[in-house]
Amino acid sequence: MSETETPFEVAERNTRGGPASGRRAARVLSAQKSAGRVYTPESIVNDILNLSGYVGKRILKRHVIDNSCGDGAFLSRIVERYCRECEPRRLKRELEEFVHGIEIDAGELGKCVKRLDAVAARYGASGVRWDVQCGDALKARQYDGKMDFVLGNPPYIRVHNLGESFDSVKRFAFARGGMTDLYLVFYEIGLQMLNDRGVLGYITPSSFFNSLAGSVFRKSLAEENLLAKLVDLEHLQVFDVAAYTAIVVLEKARKARTVEFCRYENGPRFVANLSPEDYLIDGKFYFSEKSELDELRRVLENGAGNRFEVKNGFATLCDAFFISDRLTGPRVVPVIKASTGKWTKALFPYADGKLIPYEQLATDPELKRYYEQNAKRLKARSLENPREWHAFGRTQGIRDVYKNKYSINGLIRDKSDIKLNRCPPGTGVYGGCYILTEIPFEELQELICSDAFVRYVSLLRKYKSGGYYAFSSRDLKVYLEYAYRRRFGDKNER
Ligand SMILES: C[S@@+](CC[C@H](N)C(=O)[O-])C[C@H]1O[C@@H](n2cnc3c(N)ncnc32)[C@H](O)[C@@H]1O
Repeated sequence: MSETETPFEVAERNTRGGPASGRRAARVLSAQKSAGRVYTPESIVNDILNLSGYVGKRILKRHVIDNSCGDGAFLSRIVERYCRECEPRRLKRELEEFVHGIEIDAGELGKCVKRLDAVAARYGASGVRWDVQCGDALKARQYDGKMDFVLGNPPYIRVHNLGESFDSVKRFAFARGGMTDLYLVFYEIGLQMLNDRGVLGYITPSSFFNSLAGSVFRKSLAEENLLAKLVDLEHLQVFDVAAYTAIVVLEKARKARTVEFCRYENGPRFVANLSPEDYLIDGKFYFSEKSELDELRRVLENGAGNRFEVKNGFATLCDAFFISDRLTGPRVVPVIKASTGKWTKALFPYADGKLIPYEQLATDPELKRYYEQNAKRLKARSLENPREWHAFGRTQGIRDVYKNKYSINGLIRDKSDIKLNRCPPGTGVYGGCYILTEIPFEELQELICSDAFVRYVSLLRKYKSGGYYAFSSRDLKVYLEYAYRRRFGDKNER
């Protein structure tokens, strides 16, 4: 596997300082990615070592491994700590016995060894025969059940990008939940390597909180009571513009059932001790203050109802043809782009919700010419019905043109980002969702343009770049059904 296949990349040496520094880090790392360098910022490594209890005299004679050690970002800090604690006369022998590493890329491993030599030399140990191996950690069994600490930043690769290794990954239990990432398998092999009182500390994508792929892993964390600490880095992107991460500490032989939940603000900041009854909702993980999780649970468990429908707007599959301010004529309707709240016009080849035959449209010479000029690209779309090349690519949103509705954008950071707009009968919506309801606009506005709605959406943690959160039409419906009943009661139930 080449370095370029590994999307985890270098951020700045010091990534502390909130989302702005995350964006800066992202710029730095895309340059480093093209240079093929991959390692974890030192501040994050130290956080993970501290949170995992790899500190002080207790690390002596304890086996520790980084099973995807790269050029040694973790191992060099581990060796440094060991050297500080160990008596010099035993140092060389103990480093050889207790520090372990695996790395699949020989070039990276070579750099790692040099780095470890340099650290040890500062403490007077030379010629250390390091137990760092070039190999595939998925096949290494010699460490199973023996490690006190498994620490690192495992590779983050979608399994369908794995090529030949795909089959060897699929046999792991944590890879059975759908479109899997390799990091989930590294949780499994990491846990296998631990002895019965061992501790695992990783930084990985946080997608396992709610992904289908993470379902087997989540189940096992809950059933075996492994989750000890969790630091959610939320929007802060330490490695990759597309990866949202968390530091996760798992402990075998735990007595407490709670997890210590931290946010990351210039380092881990304790928020709450949470039990599975708090953070496990409908088989998924959600982390926040306890009171917020209680409210989230109430919403998610009481969101049934039929007072609201939330649907996706037009999908023409060729907006450049169907949507333009310049369109005129009897087949044109006003449309709003839900994501921006801007009104424009759409060519709408439908009457009473049914597609108008092309021959009929073509009786208008202007329209015929417009269609003919664009026929090639309209036919190139992946259409539900290839014979209907003059139609929108999908039928969604078409019948509701004749109804009263409200458009809404699907990406927000705070209340001021919410764009809720009235769309009277005769108008269309594209580029987002719309709501069908009989409640007055003012009531709808009160429910949606609220801090409570923004908090709900942020807890769903569908992170997008720029500090935005996404929500789906279903997320919105569930919220509205619950929030309406809570605010206005059931007296008007349809
Ligand atoms: C995200 S990097 C982390 C490197 C290092 N732990 C750090 O934090 O700087 C992941 C490393 O895993 C290595 N890797 C990928 N697949 C591997 C496998 N099957 N066995 C061992 N190492 C692997 C990659 O070459 C890469 O160096």
